[in-house]
Amino acid sequence: MSAIESSTEGITITDARHPDMPLVYVNRGFEAVTGYRREDVLGRNCRFLQGDDVDQPQLEALRSGMREARSVSVQIRNYRKDGRLFWNQLSVAPIFDEQGQLTHYIGVQKDVTDSVVIQLSLRERERELIAINRKLEDLAAHDGLTKVLDRQHFLDVLDDRWSDNRSQAPTVCLFMIDVDCFKQFNDSYGHAAGDAALAQIGMALRKVFCRDTDLIARYGGEEFVAATTSNSNEDAATLAQNVCRAIRKLQISHGNSTVADVLTVSVGVVAVDPRGCSIDAGLRTADDALYEAKELGRNQYRIVPTPVVDSAARPTAAINGLAVGRM
Ligand SMILES: Cc1cc2nc3c(=O)[nH]c(=O)nc-3n(C[C@H](O)[C@H](O)[C@H](O)COP(=O)(O)O)c2cc1C
Repeated sequence: MSAIESSTEGITITDARHPDMPLVYVNRGFEAVTGYRREDVLGRNCRFLQGDDVDQPQLEALRSGMREARSVSVQIRNYRKDGRLFWNQLSVAPIFDEQGQLTHYIGVQKDVTDSVVIQLSLRERERELIAINRKLEDLAAHDGLTKVLDRQHFLDVLDDRWSDNRSQAPTVCLFMIDVDCFKQFNDSYGHAAGDAALAQIGMALRKVFCRDTDLIARYGGEEFVAATTSNSNEDAATLAQNVCRAIRKLQISHGNSTVADVLTVSVGVVAVDPRGCSIDAGLRTADDALYEAKELGRNQYRIVPTPVVDSAARPTAAINGLAVGRM
């Protein structure tokens, strides 16, 4: 018993035959850990150490262990006599008499505050690092100027979606968007103004392609690319129209444009069935449609309404199906 008495960990014994399981023994370690003297606590249930902090999930594990008269170990918040919190690594084990009757519980209380505090602050640091990492990943995936995705990230995400879509087979609409007469814009207003215009265009495009599943990226220079999943060509046409309108509405003066007195864009759109078309072929076809839109005078969209069949050659049937959207 003297070894138990002089243990630095708290050791307690409760009377399990009494309905409220009062303490019948506490050692010096218990007094040191909790700050209570044994005459203060004998005859009481040990729950007083929880104060008002009784809403702890670990206590349920303790209760159920004790209901089933088995050993259980939990980590709970307890409060010393002076009110200071300490983390208690509590283990309780049942004691049975020769007839197999539960008579007592023995409990061991270990103050693990230091290691729990370290663990909690490590976890907090980890959460912060994860958040910073996400932000960095997000920044890395986006074009610094226009704040839309960068080309490679767009292609990676599209690639994943493409395989998903192969089983579900909704139509994927690809949009190639190019700023009209942008070279002349830069020549007239300078590259800083060109960059500012691209940033504004990026923001406007983010508003048009705003659904969770929409993807919008800077494809290079003054060219953007977008992908949406949609079940109808009308959706794609509406979006293409919205793109042209949104950019015109920015009212970015362009005195040197052959199209309008403000910056405009041309858009090529293709609606593809991922089961019969690769991303490359889809993008090539959207690019062809964009080219047609440019040829027809810019500031407009062209849409390929029929899914194209994968082929290295230009899908003639699809190109014949080009629809023009004059703005
Ligand atoms: C031997 C023994 C020691 C215990 N020691 C503690 C303790 O140090 N701190 C504590 O919060 N609860 C301790 N408990 C648990 C409480 O006495 C009680 O069982 C727990 O709060 C769940 O029951 P309740 O919902 O009736 O409060 C101990 C229980 C036993 C059987």
